[in-house]
Formats: sequence, C-alpha cells, structure tokens
Amino acid sequence: MGAPANDIPSYPTLNEIAQDEALDALDPLRHLRNDDHDTFGGTHGELEADPVVPAQPRSIFDQTLHLSFSDTTQQNDHEITIALKVDASPGCGGIAWPAGEVLANYLALRGRQYIAGKTILELGSGTGLVGLVAGVLEGKVWITDQAPLLDIMRCNVKINQLQSSVSVSELNWGDPLPSDLPMPDLILAADCVYFEPAFPLLVQTLSDLATETTDILFCFKKRRKADKRFFALLKKKFSWTEIKDDPNRDVYSREAISLLMLSKRHLGTGPVHN
Ligand SMILES: C[S@@+](CC[C@H](N)C(=O)[O-])C[C@H]1O[C@@H](n2cnc3c(N)ncnc32)[C@H](O)[C@@H]1O
Repeated sequence: MGAPANDIPSYPTLNEIAQDEALDALDPLRHLRNDDHDTFGGTHGELEADPVVPAQPRSIFDQTLHLSFSDTTQQNDHEITIALKVDASPGCGGIAWPAGEVLANYLALRGRQYIAGKTILELGSGTGLVGLVAGVLEGKVWITDQAPLLDIMRCNVKINQLQSSVSVSELNWGDPLPSDLPMPDLILAADCVYFEPAFPLLVQTLSDLATETTDILFCFKKRRKADKRFFALLKKKFSWTEIKDDPNRDVYSREAISLLMLSKRHLGTGPVHN
C-alpha cells in the first residue's frame, strides 16, 4: 500500500487549482480518461502508464459481468458471485470501477461476522456492486446514487435476487438527506473522488450521515494532484487510517488504490493531526 493519506505530496498552487477547475467545468469526466495530463504527479512517472479507465470496452451497452469474491468465513472459501449489468449510457457509474472491486473483495474477506445485521449505506454506488456484496453477506443495505443510475442499480438488485436486503435510493451529495434513509452503522464509498466541484458536497454528505461511531470504508484511486484538495476538506471533519489487514493490498496499491477507514472527528477536541 502506498503512503498514508497524510503523506500525499504537497498541495497544488492556486494557479494549478484554477486551471484544473476551469478544465473541470468544460469536461467533468476528463480525469477518468486515459490521457497524460492529469495523472497523479503530472510528469511521466509510473502512474501515467496505468490505464485510468477500467479495462472494459470503451463502448459498453447493456452487458452482464460475473464477478466473484471469496468469503473466507465460510468453509472451503465459499465464493460470492455477483451478476452485474453494466451500461455506460447513464454515466460513468454504469461500469465497474477497480476501487469498487477492491472494496467488494474486502467486504467478502471480512465476511458475515462483520457485515450481517449492520445497517449499511453506500454512496455513489454506480452499478451497486459493493452494496450487493454487502447484501449477500446479510447487511441491511441502501445503495445510493444520482437519478440516472437508479435503473441499473434496481436491475442489479433484481438479477441477484437481493430485494429483501438491498434498497435503492437517490442521494445527491450535498443535498439534505432524504427522510427514508437510515442513519447507517457502516458507510461505503468506492472511487468517489474524481470531480472537484463535488468534493465539498461529498464531505458534507459523509458528515450528515456519520456519527463518531460510524465505520466508513472509503476506497480511493489517486489520479491527480487536485485529489489532495479533497483530503484537505475531509480532514476538517474526519480522521482516517489505512486498512492494513487486506492480503490484496500490495497488488492494488500498485494501481494507486488505497482503502481507508474514516472516523468522524469529535469537534472541539484539540488540534487536527492527519
Ligand atoms: C467513478 S464512479 C464509481 C462507481 C462505483 N462506486 C464503483 O466503484 O464502481 C463514481 C460514482 O459517483 C456518483 N456521483 C458523482 N457525483 C455525485 C453526486 N454529486 N451525488 C451522488 N453521486 C454522485 C456517480 O454517479 C458514479 O456512480
């Protein structure tokens, strides 16, 4: 695994931030494309060789993937298999992202003894993959995203026959929480740091949903310098530690993916140390 979040390199200059924001406004998804301009570091370092968009065909329309994860708490390494409809037409969330697979796999490793009976809410679920694995592990799960993704999430709940454990809700970061959403014991988020104008909205929603005892598993892929601005905002309300008990950590850290456990700060308890 790479350096802890507090070791990510120095902050970009105001000029760099302004340029990034202007480009974001013109093309919000530019960070998810495999171009040379904004990968983390900005020079021709090792990360620039990595594909930014997951290895799926550029044009994905109504395909079904079958993804397997090991639940080590079951005898014989019982596998969880999820049928996942992917479709890029409703937006970038309609395909399977590597950080989502990392987090889904980690949940399977932690198994039912960690998940079963917990109230779980996933942010920016996209296809719903992570929340579906939590549903198989007997969590009471809400998968959430913006309106265009709701149909694909509902379809994936149905084809995996998880209607009794996984609910689908619209949740736009930064908006007031819908009254039908529960306060969760566990919040999940994978690959939700990529669009700078949404950074404060995501921090706000995390803060609205969490108390100081809520677990938050946050899987993040470093892409560019501006990602540090997200952590600068996050640090005002949350502290975090890196998950170190995942045997796959060495593999995904080579792809600049980190899995963090966030904790909401008890405000008024002294200096911020992250
Ligand atoms: C890169 S995708 C990751 C999807 C999924 N978590 C995964 O790992 O496969 C980011 C997701 O965040 C969602 N998202 C982006 N901005 C959002 C916002 N303001 N409110 C709610 N969801 C948002 C997108 O719709 C998309 O599904």
